[in-house]
Amino acid sequence: MSDKNSSQSKLSKGTIEFKAPLLDRAWTYMPEGIRQTVSSEPIIPAIAAKAKVIAAQNPDFIRSDQGQIVGIFPEKEIYYGPSSGLEELRELVGQFWTFAYRLKNKEGLPSNGLSKKNVAIVSGATEGLAIAMHLFAFNQNVGLMPLYWSNYKGIILNAGGNPIVVKLFNKNYNIDFKNVEQIIRKNKITSLLINFPNNPSGDVLTEEELRKLADLARRLNLIIISDEVYNFIRYKGEPQSMLSFAPERTVVVSSASKEYLIPGARVGYIIAAEEMFTNSWIPKMIRSFSSSPNVLGQRILADILKDEVKDFEEDRSPRIISEIKKELRTRCELMISILKEKEFELAGRDKDFPSGAISVLARLPKDIKLDDKALVEKAMELKKFSAVPGSVFGAPGCIRLGYAGMTQETIKKFSKNLQDVLDSIRKKS
Ligand SMILES: Cc1ncc(COP(=O)(O)O)c(C=O)c1O
Repeated sequence: MSDKNSSQSKLSKGTIEFKAPLLDRAWTYMPEGIRQTVSSEPIIPAIAAKAKVIAAQNPDFIRSDQGQIVGIFPEKEIYYGPSSGLEELRELVGQFWTFAYRLKNKEGLPSNGLSKKNVAIVSGATEGLAIAMHLFAFNQNVGLMPLYWSNYKGIILNAGGNPIVVKLFNKNYNIDFKNVEQIIRKNKITSLLINFPNNPSGDVLTEEELRKLADLARRLNLIIISDEVYNFIRYKGEPQSMLSFAPERTVVVSSASKEYLIPGARVGYIIAAEEMFTNSWIPKMIRSFSSSPNVLGQRILADILKDEVKDFEEDRSPRIISEIKKELRTRCELMISILKEKEFELAGRDKDFPSGAISVLARLPKDIKLDDKALVEKAMELKKFSAVPGSVFGAPGCIRLGYAGMTQETIKKFSKNLQDVLDSIRKKS
């Protein structure tokens, strides 16, 4: 088999040390089969890339390498895209991140900021997380920091890893780094999966906390998989990316699903400082996950990001996402005022207003004797509203309300429906 050429077998048998921690840790933890995948030289993409260049320069050149039926419904032909994503979009994502998170002239990152080589497009952050876990989680303990998105455990387990919840915050919502370090050492955790701004609470870490987390990761040679799907949706302070604190050991997974409200387009990205990781290993993994991300979704996002990057270049805030953020803030304000009026408390770090993201986590009023699951069941039984029980995210006694899926009008109506549910529960107790 062509993939088992001699340099390939040498690679997979020896214990290789890569200078870059990201490659070194991934290579150490990944199963043998994945080592073969990332060190193979797949023939078809190489032919396609070369053929594309020749065809562009030689009109008589005929391509028969493409696996697609051509000419029957010409207006409906949508070709496979490259496994790493459309080049134009990769470049735009790199530029957007460089501007938005100030990644130029930062130690450990390319001096001009991120380029397409630092970005691989994936089918949503979900696929990005699954791929990252296949590289880092096999037979390893992966630290999850509460509160965590409910899919994380399944994604880690599917990759042969073992999720371990590491309590990041103490009772006062501060981080006791000594304690966190002890838990990580005791449980032999080799990577951390973090998510800020957080789903469900909207919590973020301060710059100092991010710096200390990066120091800790360096000391313990941890990899950080940083889920930053809500990164630009911030209501307080400047947005930060973990990439600028620990570039040599951070894999950022993000997506257009939340920030541009296009989850059905299935466009996400894996971003890293190490080009071989994003430009070679990840696309090789994508080939056996989804072949390539959704080409139509990528075109939609490329159109959006062209305008956003232009705004950044002209020293303006990116208009589309700023508009989205403004609307989300208004909805969030409405939601919070309703919840406070009904004696719910915010259950995350922020007691007044969430730092970011698109949902609120609210603690049930003290006199409500139902647990979170029962309250949601009751609200649905009465056909008043739905919500996600906080226990799904590791926050019992709370409910998560996603205001991005509700218009301002709906949120206003929600006030009455919530009151009806509370009245009904109180009447019975
Ligand atoms: C924290 C977090 N990460 C990832 C995702 C999935 O994003 P995508 O639609 O890009 O797969 C979600 C969706 O709810 C999420 O809340």
